[in-house]
Amino acid sequence: MNNFEFKNPTKIIFGRDTIVKLAEELPTDAKVLVLYGGGSIKKNGIYNQVKAALKDITHFEFGGIPANPEYSILMEALQVIKEKHITYLLAVGGGSVIDGTKFLSAAALYKGDTPWDILANRTPTLKGLPFGTVLTLPATGSEMNSGAVITNNKTQEKLGMGGAGLFPQFSILDPQVIKSVPKRQLVNGITDAFTHVLEQYLTYPAGALLQDRFAESIMNTLLEVAPTVVKDPSDYNAASNFMWSCTMALNGLIQKGVPTDWAVHAMVHELTALYGIDHARTLAIIAPSHYQYNFEAKKEKLAQYAERVWNITEGSVEDKAYAAIEKTESFFNQMGIETKLSKYTEDFDGTAEIISKRFTERGWLGLGEHKSLTPEDVENIVHMVY
Ligand code: NZQ
Ligand code: ZN
Repeated sequence: MNNFEFKNPTKIIFGRDTIVKLAEELPTDAKVLVLYGGGSIKKNGIYNQVKAALKDITHFEFGGIPANPEYSILMEALQVIKEKHITYLLAVGGGSVIDGTKFLSAAALYKGDTPWDILANRTPTLKGLPFGTVLTLPATGSEMNSGAVITNNKTQEKLGMGGAGLFPQFSILDPQVIKSVPKRQLVNGITDAFTHVLEQYLTYPAGALLQDRFAESIMNTLLEVAPTVVKDPSDYNAASNFMWSCTMALNGLIQKGVPTDWAVHAMVHELTALYGIDHARTLAIIAPSHYQYNFEAKKEKLAQYAERVWNITEGSVEDKAYAAIEKTESFFNQMGIETKLSKYTEDFDGTAEIISKRFTERGWLGLGEHKSLTPEDVENIVHMVY
């Protein structure tokens, strides 16, 4: 097992009817900006629950943060933060609203002229404006981590940011919120969380027995509850297990002491930036080909994954490893997720070259657990998914 340090300061308030506890977490003299997305919270009752909980707290609102949170819209919110002298941010939404709020938390205290530089220069945020979240869509784990991904439509870029100052102070996780989540977003959430585990697990054996078991149990739990979550999101038992699995998949715990890959996420953000494809769907497009392409380096963990997650016990290490990749892709397909780029856009010629050129320009010359995946490898992988 590798050496590690672990600190996660986010307080989780989990369970039925927990949004009422919101005010207890906020300083009484706070000036809060409530941030939300395209309006789903106004239809499903979450907005009213938040408003009721905030009745004695000074607060303002900013709605309209789109999926794949857009820089220019966030800059409008930043203006509100400055004009109203906001002291606390509250994200009410899924990964996009929470990530947008993290950007604002950093931008509000940023000393430079152009907050996009936080992303372009990968400046870590050590201190941000304090914020909390009310999660409405289990998927990204953003509610309990310190990372965010922001889109710039003008430059067709989608870049990551983060830092120790960007953990939410608290996150309220009421699994009942998924009742209103459309099927498309539910399967996206399952796929995103599942792939987060793969990125931190499908590398090479590092003698981290407990971390491997954590990772496998998150994947097994997701596989177990996925059919019920999709069929009946009002099933509380399935919803609660789904929600907690998504949080645990990316709150930092399972990646401690082990090598991690994250090349799939690096590649897929480009597909969203170029074609607007949902984040989870881009993962389903790239992940199977990434594992095939890096088969030799990953086959031992692939075979372990085959045995412990897919119950494939027959055959050689290679046989099991291949079968696990096939199982993974057909799991995505069974949930209705296409795994070829051509199913999402007709205009994909040159995509592989564009992505590899961008990686070269950014100096991303060696990705993955061995820091050996070159822009040329990335080009080859993206060619495989046409
Ligand atoms: O905008 P509204 O109207 O709220 O509708 C949203 C949106 O259209 C809807 N929705 C959310 N909760 C709902 C609901 N509809 C009905 N009932 C509810 N309770 O769902 C749609 C998608 O929301 P979004 O927040 O975009 O989805 P998700 O949570 O999957 O977030 C995706 C974003 O997170 C980033 C992705 O790149 C993408 O930009 N990620 C963030 C990560 C992180 N911070 O750690 C890691 C991930 O790998 C990922 O990159
Ligand atoms: Zn993801």
